[in-house]
Amino acid sequence: MSPVQTAHTADLDAAVLTAARALLDDAFEGDMSDHDFEHALGGVHALAWEDGELIGHASVVQRRLLHGGRALRAGYVEGVGVRADRRRRGYAAAMMDALERVVRGAYDLGALGAADEAAAFYAGRGWQPWRGPTSALTPAGIRRTAQEDGGIYVLPAGVPLDLDGELTCDWRDGEVW
Ligand SMILES: CC(C)(COP(=O)(O)OP(=O)(O)OC[C@H]1O[C@@H](n2cnc3c(N)ncnc32)[C@H](O)[C@@H]1OP(=O)(O)O)[C@@H](O)C(=O)NCCC(=O)NCCS
Repeated sequence: MSPVQTAHTADLDAAVLTAARALLDDAFEGDMSDHDFEHALGGVHALAWEDGELIGHASVVQRRLLHGGRALRAGYVEGVGVRADRRRRGYAAAMMDALERVVRGAYDLGALGAADEAAAFYAGRGWQPWRGPTSALTPAGIRRTAQEDGGIYVLPAGVPLDLDGELTCDWRDGEVW
């Protein structure tokens, strides 16, 4: 398996970002919106290549998560996908190794919204489901995001977390979590 490349969005050519978008469109079977892709930009990407072809993508971007009276600096993982014919070969694990190193080195915690099919993958790597109520800090104030409860996973990285407490994400267009 080729090593995973890590790079900030600013250091990726437009062609690589276009390839990443196409890969994620395929991996999510058309369920990746423009907002979803935009959420994956502005941080560090992990890219898996095979013979010059992009076959895996994941990224981590900074968000603020309110918890326990603090605005925690979160490394939020987005856009995790591996080409269907290259799965179960360790590519996603290698990309997450790279991003978890970034999370542990630069953030108070890691967080992500897990697709049902991927929850076991993250749990197997030490990510823990948030058990308490989730909300978003919207322009109209804090609003519950009950439909997301149970689907948000965190990677503790030094700051004590009460997984039964409240967790509130910052605002963005599209899916907030
Ligand atoms: C989830 C996904 C990224 C995993 O990619 P992958 O390269 O196949 O994962 P890996 O080969 O690195 O898997 C490493 C380990 O994670 C676990 N794992 C991976 N996929 C799994 C799955 N679908 N169900 C349960 N465990 C899984 C296994 O323990 C696996 O090790 P093993 O193959 O030795 O049993 C890939 O299936 C995918 O792109 N899915 C569609 C998009 C998606 O759902 N992305 C996640 C959004 S949150």
